[in-house]
Amino acid sequence: MQSFELLSQKFILYFDKRHFPSEPSTLYEPNEYFLKLGGKRIRPVLCLMGNELFEEIKEDAWHVGTAIELFHNFTLIHDDIMDKAPLRRGMETVHTKYGENTALLAGDVMLVSSYEELNKISIEYLPSILRLFSKTAKEVCEGQQMDMDFERMEQVSFEAYLKMIELKTSVALAASLQIGAILGGAGERNQHLLYEFGKKLGIAFQVQDDYLDAYGDPQKFGKQVGGDILANKKTFLLLHALETASPSQQKEIRNLLSGNPADKIEKVLQIFHDCKVDEWALQLKNKYLDEAFGHLEDIAVLSIRKEPLKALAHFLIKREH
Ligand code: IPE
Ligand code: IPE
Ligand code: MG
Ligand code: MG
Ligand code: MG
Repeated sequence: MQSFELLSQKFILYFDKRHFPSEPSTLYEPNEYFLKLGGKRIRPVLCLMGNELFEEIKEDAWHVGTAIELFHNFTLIHDDIMDKAPLRRGMETVHTKYGENTALLAGDVMLVSSYEELNKISIEYLPSILRLFSKTAKEVCEGQQMDMDFERMEQVSFEAYLKMIELKTSVALAASLQIGAILGGAGERNQHLLYEFGKKLGIAFQVQDDYLDAYGDPQKFGKQVGGDILANKKTFLLLHALETASPSQQKEIRNLLSGNPADKIEKVLQIFHDCKVDEWALQLKNKYLDEAFGHLEDIAVLSIRKEPLKALAHFLIKREH
Protein backbone atom coordinates (compact mmCIF):
# COMPACT_ATOMS: atom_id res chain seq x y z
CA MET A 1 0.00 0.00 0.00
CA GLN A 2 1.28 3.43 -0.88
CA SER A 3 0.36 6.75 0.67
CA PHE A 4 -1.57 9.25 -1.43
CA GLU A 5 1.42 11.60 -1.24
CA LEU A 6 3.70 8.98 -2.81
CA LEU A 7 1.16 8.07 -5.49
CA SER A 8 0.67 11.77 -6.26
CA GLN A 9 4.41 12.22 -6.70
CA LYS A 10 4.56 9.20 -8.97
CA PHE A 11 1.64 10.32 -11.09
CA ILE A 12 2.94 13.88 -11.37
CA LEU A 13 6.25 12.49 -12.71
CA TYR A 14 4.49 10.08 -15.07
CA PHE A 15 2.23 12.80 -16.44
CA ASP A 16 5.01 15.39 -16.79
CA LYS A 17 5.74 15.09 -20.51
CA ARG A 18 4.50 16.60 -23.75
CA HIS A 19 0.98 15.39 -24.49
CA PHE A 20 0.46 17.13 -27.83
CA PRO A 21 2.35 17.52 -31.13
CA SER A 22 4.24 20.74 -31.76
CA GLU A 23 2.24 21.88 -34.82
CA PRO A 24 0.02 23.79 -35.18
CA SER A 25 1.58 25.45 -32.19
CA THR A 26 -1.24 27.98 -31.95
CA LEU A 27 -3.53 25.07 -31.00
CA TYR A 28 -1.24 22.81 -28.99
CA GLU A 29 0.94 25.30 -27.09
CA PRO A 30 -2.07 26.52 -25.09
CA ASN A 31 -2.70 22.93 -23.98
CA GLU A 32 0.92 22.34 -23.05
CA TYR A 33 0.90 25.67 -21.21
CA PHE A 34 -2.16 24.66 -19.22
CA LEU A 35 -0.96 21.16 -18.32
CA LYS A 36 2.38 22.58 -17.16
CA LEU A 37 0.59 24.75 -14.61
CA GLY A 38 0.18 21.62 -12.54
CA GLY A 39 -2.84 20.98 -10.39
CA LYS A 40 -3.35 18.46 -7.65
CA ARG A 41 -3.95 15.52 -10.02
CA ILE A 42 -6.30 14.00 -7.48
CA ARG A 43 -8.58 12.18 -9.92
CA PRO A 44 -5.85 9.95 -11.37
CA VAL A 45 -4.53 9.40 -7.87
CA LEU A 46 -8.02 8.27 -6.84
CA CYS A 47 -7.98 5.84 -9.75
CA LEU A 48 -4.62 4.41 -8.66
CA MET A 49 -5.82 4.19 -5.07
CA GLY A 50 -9.10 2.53 -6.09
CA ASN A 51 -7.04 -0.09 -7.88
CA GLU A 52 -4.60 -0.57 -5.00
CA LEU A 53 -7.38 -0.96 -2.47
CA PHE A 54 -7.91 -4.43 -3.96
CA GLU A 55 -4.80 -5.45 -5.85
CA GLU A 56 -1.43 -4.30 -7.13
CA ILE A 57 -1.66 -1.36 -9.50
CA LYS A 58 -2.07 -2.39 -13.15
CA GLU A 59 -0.41 -0.66 -16.09
CA ASP A 60 -3.89 0.24 -17.37
CA ALA A 61 -4.54 2.38 -14.29
CA TRP A 62 -1.84 4.80 -15.46
CA HIS A 63 -3.50 5.14 -18.87
CA VAL A 64 -6.94 5.66 -17.38
CA GLY A 65 -5.44 8.11 -14.90
CA THR A 66 -3.95 10.06 -17.79
CA ALA A 67 -7.29 9.99 -19.64
CA ILE A 68 -9.12 11.23 -16.54
CA GLU A 69 -6.65 14.06 -15.96
CA LEU A 70 -6.85 15.15 -19.61
CA PHE A 71 -10.63 15.07 -19.39
CA HIS A 72 -10.52 17.14 -16.18
CA ASN A 73 -8.24 19.74 -17.78
CA PHE A 74 -10.58 19.97 -20.76
CA THR A 75 -13.46 20.74 -18.38
CA LEU A 76 -11.39 23.40 -16.63
CA ILE A 77 -10.45 25.22 -19.84
CA HIS A 78 -14.10 25.40 -20.86
CA ASP A 79 -15.27 26.12 -17.30
CA ASP A 80 -12.99 29.17 -17.15
CA ILE A 81 -14.61 30.54 -20.30
CA MET A 82 -18.09 29.96 -18.87
CA ASP A 83 -17.14 31.45 -15.49
CA LYS A 84 -15.16 34.34 -17.02
CA ALA A 85 -12.26 33.38 -14.78
CA PRO A 86 -9.00 35.28 -15.29
CA LEU A 87 -6.77 33.05 -13.13
CA ARG A 88 -6.17 29.38 -12.53
CA ARG A 89 -3.35 27.61 -10.71
CA GLY A 90 -1.89 31.06 -10.09
CA MET A 91 -1.57 31.90 -13.79
CA GLU A 92 -3.64 33.33 -16.63
CA THR A 93 -6.45 31.09 -17.86
CA VAL A 94 -6.19 29.74 -21.40
CA HIS A 95 -8.90 31.98 -22.86
CA THR A 96 -7.40 35.08 -21.20
CA LYS A 97 -3.98 34.33 -22.64
CA TYR A 98 -4.89 32.93 -26.06
CA GLY A 99 -8.46 34.04 -26.73
CA GLU A 100 -11.79 32.28 -26.39
CA ASN A 101 -11.87 30.58 -29.76
CA THR A 102 -8.50 28.95 -29.21
CA ALA A 103 -9.51 27.93 -25.69
CA LEU A 104 -12.64 26.22 -27.05
CA LEU A 105 -10.65 24.27 -29.59
CA ALA A 106 -7.80 23.51 -27.19
CA GLY A 107 -10.38 22.04 -24.83
CA ASP A 108 -12.02 20.04 -27.63
CA VAL A 109 -8.76 18.47 -28.72
CA MET A 110 -7.88 17.74 -25.09
CA LEU A 111 -11.16 15.81 -24.77
CA VAL A 112 -10.39 13.79 -27.90
CA SER A 113 -6.90 13.03 -26.57
CA SER A 114 -8.41 11.80 -23.36
CA TYR A 115 -10.45 9.18 -25.27
CA GLU A 116 -7.36 8.23 -27.28
CA GLU A 117 -5.53 7.55 -24.04
CA LEU A 118 -8.45 5.52 -22.71
CA ASN A 119 -8.35 3.39 -25.84
CA LYS A 120 -4.89 2.12 -24.77
CA ILE A 121 -6.28 -0.09 -22.01
CA SER A 122 -6.69 -3.83 -22.47
CA ILE A 123 -9.79 -5.02 -24.27
CA GLU A 124 -10.90 -6.99 -21.22
CA TYR A 125 -11.68 -3.76 -19.36
CA LEU A 126 -12.37 -1.32 -22.18
CA PRO A 127 -16.17 -1.71 -22.59
CA SER A 128 -17.06 -1.35 -18.91
CA ILE A 129 -14.63 1.50 -18.28
CA LEU A 130 -15.63 3.33 -21.45
CA ARG A 131 -19.28 3.09 -20.43
CA LEU A 132 -18.65 4.56 -16.98
CA PHE A 133 -16.28 7.22 -18.36
CA SER A 134 -18.80 8.43 -20.94
CA LYS A 135 -21.73 8.38 -18.55
CA THR A 136 -19.66 10.51 -16.16
CA ALA A 137 -18.59 12.92 -18.89
CA LYS A 138 -22.23 13.54 -19.82
CA GLU A 139 -23.15 14.09 -16.19
CA VAL A 140 -20.39 16.71 -15.84
CA CYS A 141 -21.91 18.59 -18.80
CA GLU A 142 -25.36 18.37 -17.19
CA GLY A 143 -24.01 19.72 -13.90
CA GLN A 144 -22.16 22.53 -15.65
CA GLN A 145 -25.35 23.59 -17.45
CA MET A 146 -27.28 23.57 -14.16
CA ASP A 147 -24.53 25.68 -12.59
CA MET A 148 -25.00 28.28 -15.34
CA ASP A 149 -28.82 28.10 -15.26
CA PHE A 150 -28.68 28.83 -11.52
CA GLU A 151 -26.73 32.07 -12.14
CA ARG A 152 -29.92 33.51 -13.57
CA MET A 153 -32.28 32.17 -10.91
CA GLU A 154 -33.09 34.07 -7.72
CA GLN A 155 -34.13 31.04 -5.74
CA VAL A 156 -32.30 27.74 -5.75
CA SER A 157 -33.00 25.05 -3.17
CA PHE A 158 -30.24 23.37 -1.24
CA GLU A 159 -31.30 20.05 -2.79
CA ALA A 160 -30.91 21.50 -6.28
CA TYR A 161 -27.47 22.83 -5.34
CA LEU A 162 -26.47 19.37 -4.10
CA LYS A 163 -27.67 17.73 -7.31
CA MET A 164 -25.71 20.28 -9.36
CA ILE A 165 -22.41 19.75 -7.52
CA GLU A 166 -22.91 16.02 -7.53
CA LEU A 167 -23.10 16.13 -11.32
CA LYS A 168 -20.43 18.73 -12.08
CA THR A 169 -17.88 17.49 -9.55
CA SER A 170 -18.64 14.44 -7.43
CA VAL A 171 -19.33 11.85 -10.07
CA ALA A 172 -15.89 12.41 -11.62
CA LEU A 173 -14.21 11.59 -8.31
CA ALA A 174 -16.54 8.64 -7.76
CA ALA A 175 -15.96 7.25 -11.26
CA SER A 176 -12.18 7.62 -10.92
CA LEU A 177 -12.30 5.43 -7.83
CA GLN A 178 -14.67 2.90 -9.37
CA ILE A 179 -12.58 2.56 -12.50
CA GLY A 180 -9.60 1.83 -10.26
CA ALA A 181 -11.68 -0.77 -8.45
CA ILE A 182 -12.70 -2.40 -11.74
CA LEU A 183 -9.01 -2.72 -12.64
CA GLY A 184 -8.34 -4.11 -9.17
CA GLY A 185 -10.82 -6.90 -9.79
CA ALA A 186 -13.33 -5.71 -7.17
CA GLY A 187 -16.81 -7.23 -7.07
CA GLU A 188 -19.90 -5.19 -7.89
CA ARG A 189 -20.80 -4.47 -4.28
CA ASN A 190 -17.35 -3.16 -3.41
CA GLN A 191 -17.28 -1.11 -6.61
CA HIS A 192 -20.62 0.43 -5.74
CA LEU A 193 -19.59 1.25 -2.18
CA LEU A 194 -16.39 2.88 -3.40
CA TYR A 195 -18.40 4.92 -5.92
CA GLU A 196 -20.74 6.10 -3.14
CA PHE A 197 -17.72 6.97 -0.98
CA GLY A 198 -16.40 9.07 -3.88
CA LYS A 199 -19.73 10.78 -4.39
CA LYS A 200 -19.97 11.92 -0.77
CA LEU A 201 -16.31 12.87 -0.72
CA GLY A 202 -16.86 14.80 -3.95
CA ILE A 203 -19.64 16.82 -2.35
CA ALA A 204 -17.37 17.73 0.56
CA PHE A 205 -14.65 18.55 -1.99
CA GLN A 206 -16.90 20.99 -3.90
CA VAL A 207 -18.09 22.52 -0.61
CA GLN A 208 -14.44 23.26 0.14
CA ASP A 209 -14.00 24.61 -3.41
CA ASP A 210 -16.94 26.98 -2.92
CA TYR A 211 -15.68 27.96 0.53
CA LEU A 212 -12.20 28.77 -0.82
CA ASP A 213 -13.68 30.86 -3.61
CA ALA A 214 -14.90 33.28 -0.93
CA TYR A 215 -12.50 32.73 1.96
CA GLY A 216 -9.30 31.56 0.22
CA ASP A 217 -5.93 33.19 0.75
CA PRO A 218 -5.20 34.85 -2.62
CA GLN A 219 -1.50 33.90 -2.28
CA LYS A 220 -2.31 30.19 -2.11
CA PHE A 221 -5.69 29.83 -3.82
CA GLY A 222 -4.53 30.35 -7.41
CA LYS A 223 -7.95 31.52 -8.63
CA GLN A 224 -9.67 34.89 -8.37
CA VAL A 225 -11.12 35.18 -4.87
CA GLY A 226 -14.79 36.19 -5.10
CA GLY A 227 -15.21 34.90 -8.65
CA ASP A 228 -18.35 32.97 -7.69
CA ILE A 229 -19.84 36.10 -6.10
CA LEU A 230 -19.21 38.13 -9.26
CA ALA A 231 -20.85 35.43 -11.40
CA ASN A 232 -23.92 35.13 -9.11
CA LYS A 233 -23.13 31.46 -8.48
CA LYS A 234 -25.63 29.76 -6.24
CA THR A 235 -23.12 28.26 -3.86
CA PHE A 236 -24.14 26.93 -0.46
CA LEU A 237 -22.56 30.10 0.97
CA LEU A 238 -25.08 32.27 -0.83
CA LEU A 239 -28.00 29.91 -0.18
CA HIS A 240 -27.19 29.87 3.52
CA ALA A 241 -26.89 33.66 3.63
CA LEU A 242 -30.21 34.08 1.83
CA GLU A 243 -31.80 31.80 4.37
CA THR A 244 -30.31 33.18 7.57
CA ALA A 245 -29.64 36.88 6.92
CA SER A 246 -31.89 39.58 8.35
CA PRO A 247 -34.65 40.81 5.99
CA SER A 248 -32.69 43.99 5.28
CA GLN A 249 -29.53 42.04 4.46
CA GLN A 250 -31.51 39.66 2.26
CA LYS A 251 -32.74 42.68 0.36
CA GLU A 252 -29.18 43.96 0.13
CA ILE A 253 -27.97 40.63 -1.30
CA ARG A 254 -30.72 40.67 -3.93
CA ASN A 255 -29.78 44.21 -4.91
CA LEU A 256 -26.10 43.31 -5.10
CA LEU A 257 -26.87 40.29 -7.29
CA SER A 258 -29.06 42.24 -9.69
CA GLY A 259 -26.39 44.85 -10.37
CA ASN A 260 -22.63 44.74 -10.60
CA PRO A 261 -21.32 47.39 -8.18
CA ALA A 262 -17.58 47.80 -7.74
CA ASP A 263 -17.80 46.71 -4.11
CA LYS A 264 -19.97 43.65 -4.78
CA ILE A 265 -17.42 41.06 -3.52
CA GLU A 266 -16.61 43.02 -0.39
CA LYS A 267 -20.27 43.61 0.49
CA VAL A 268 -21.39 40.03 -0.09
CA LEU A 269 -18.41 38.74 1.90
CA GLN A 270 -19.43 40.94 4.81
CA ILE A 271 -22.90 39.39 4.79
CA PHE A 272 -21.40 35.89 4.57
CA HIS A 273 -19.30 36.80 7.57
CA ASP A 274 -22.31 38.08 9.54
CA CYS A 275 -24.25 34.90 8.75
CA LYS A 276 -21.31 32.75 9.95
CA VAL A 277 -21.26 30.94 6.67
CA ASP A 278 -17.79 29.56 7.45
CA GLU A 279 -19.16 27.59 10.41
CA TRP A 280 -21.83 26.13 8.15
CA ALA A 281 -19.10 25.10 5.71
CA LEU A 282 -17.34 23.14 8.40
CA GLN A 283 -20.54 21.37 9.42
CA LEU A 284 -21.38 20.49 5.85
CA LYS A 285 -17.92 19.11 5.10
CA ASN A 286 -17.96 16.97 8.21
CA LYS A 287 -21.42 15.65 7.46
CA TYR A 288 -20.48 14.49 3.97
CA LEU A 289 -17.10 13.21 5.08
CA ASP A 290 -18.79 11.08 7.75
CA GLU A 291 -21.23 9.71 5.19
CA ALA A 292 -18.33 8.97 2.86
CA PHE A 293 -16.47 7.12 5.60
CA GLY A 294 -19.61 5.09 6.32
CA HIS A 295 -19.50 3.68 2.79
CA LEU A 296 -15.75 3.09 2.99
CA GLU A 297 -16.27 1.18 6.23
CA ASP A 298 -18.63 -1.25 4.46
CA ILE A 299 -16.14 -2.19 1.77
CA ALA A 300 -15.04 -5.76 2.30
CA VAL A 301 -11.27 -5.41 2.47
CA LEU A 302 -8.91 -5.20 5.45
CA SER A 303 -9.36 -1.84 7.11
CA ILE A 304 -5.63 -1.09 6.99
CA ARG A 305 -5.92 -0.95 3.20
CA LYS A 306 -8.36 1.95 3.55
CA GLU A 307 -5.98 4.21 5.46
CA PRO A 308 -4.50 6.01 2.41
CA LEU A 309 -8.00 6.90 1.17
CA LYS A 310 -8.93 8.25 4.58
CA ALA A 311 -5.82 10.40 4.66
CA LEU A 312 -6.57 11.74 1.18
CA ALA A 313 -10.15 12.55 2.16
CA HIS A 314 -8.95 14.57 5.16
CA PHE A 315 -6.44 16.41 3.00
CA LEU A 316 -9.06 17.26 0.36
CA ILE A 317 -11.46 18.97 2.71
CA LYS A 318 -8.73 20.99 4.41
CA ARG A 319 -6.81 21.98 1.30
CA GLU A 320 -6.04 25.65 0.67
CA HIS A 321 -5.96 25.52 -3.13
C1 IPE B 1 -11.24 22.21 -9.74
O1 IPE B 1 -10.70 20.95 -9.53
C2 IPE B 1 -12.61 22.05 -10.33
C3 IPE B 1 -13.56 21.43 -9.41
C4 IPE B 1 -14.25 20.40 -9.73
C5 IPE B 1 -13.78 21.98 -8.09
P1 IPE B 1 -9.32 20.76 -8.75
O2 IPE B 1 -9.36 21.51 -7.46
O3 IPE B 1 -9.03 19.30 -8.68
O4 IPE B 1 -8.30 21.48 -9.72
P2 IPE B 1 -6.74 21.21 -9.98
O5 IPE B 1 -6.67 20.22 -11.09
O6 IPE B 1 -6.13 20.72 -8.72
O7 IPE B 1 -6.19 22.53 -10.41
C1 IPE C 1 -16.17 23.43 -11.93
O1 IPE C 1 -16.66 23.99 -10.76
C2 IPE C 1 -16.44 22.00 -12.11
C3 IPE C 1 -15.88 21.54 -13.40
C4 IPE C 1 -14.89 22.11 -14.03
C5 IPE C 1 -16.48 20.40 -14.02
P1 IPE C 1 -16.06 25.42 -10.45
O2 IPE C 1 -16.36 26.38 -11.53
O3 IPE C 1 -16.42 25.80 -9.06
O4 IPE C 1 -14.48 25.08 -10.47
P2 IPE C 1 -13.34 26.16 -10.29
O5 IPE C 1 -13.59 26.82 -8.95
O6 IPE C 1 -13.45 27.11 -11.43
O7 IPE C 1 -12.08 25.36 -10.27
MG1 MG D 1 -15.04 27.80 -12.42
MG1 MG E 1 -17.83 26.59 -13.00
MG1 MG F 1 -15.10 26.87 -7.72
